[in-house]
Amino acid sequence: MLIEYMCQRLGIADLGKTDVLDFGCGCRFADAIVNKELPIGRYTGIDIDKEMIEFLSRNVSDTRLAFYYWDVQNPLYNPNGEALTSNSSLPVGERDFDLICMFSVITHQLPDDAENLLRILRRYVRPEGRLFFSANIQDMDGDYREMAHRPTLHSAYSAAFLQGLLARTGWKCLSLEGKTPQGVPIQDSFLCAPV
Ligand SMILES: C[S@@+](CC[C@H](N)C(=O)[O-])C[C@H]1O[C@@H](n2cnc3c(N)ncnc32)[C@H](O)[C@@H]1O
Repeated sequence: MLIEYMCQRLGIADLGKTDVLDFGCGCRFADAIVNKELPIGRYTGIDIDKEMIEFLSRNVSDTRLAFYYWDVQNPLYNPNGEALTSNSSLPVGERDFDLICMFSVITHQLPDDAENLLRILRRYVRPEGRLFFSANIQDMDGDYREMAHRPTLHSAYSAAFLQGLLARTGWKCLSLEGKTPQGVPIQDSFLCAPV
């Protein structure tokens, strides 16, 4: 459902001709692509969950899919990782992608990390490429707040802050849709192009 919805927003039928970077990939999309035999050009998954990336690398034999562990810090998922900076390099070498997606990743980031990630990802998108990501937008007085007891368990942002972040990091917002569009289980979602 999420992949179909993202394709709808991108105006394409499927990912059959798309070179995708799924950042903070988890295992859901790899599962859907492999086990439901979804069309895919190329798929690169990056995550800071070592065990999961090792599992996917060992068990996915389709050579169009590749998985990379990145040891950077996140308070919830990888508290002992290396500090994330705007100059950090992704573990994929000199690559760029047609589409970079982040589902439920900005929902687990401190504001500085969200900014660094958007700045880093900007270096890995093709000139005609796109960024699609979900985030939890809330009406609030400030820019950011945690909705749960633990930092980055459920990070929420104001729309104005995220729009400002995109502008500062070299992205233009093409569309922003609210939560659960057409019943799809997704938070607010941004489609962006590199400026
Ligand atoms: C809620 S899960 C979502 C997983 C997947 N995108 C999905 O929708 O099923 C958040 C994922 O982001 C990863 N993550 C969080 N911070 C990250 C970072 N700085 N770099 C790469 N992955 C990160 C976590 O390890 C986790 O797998």
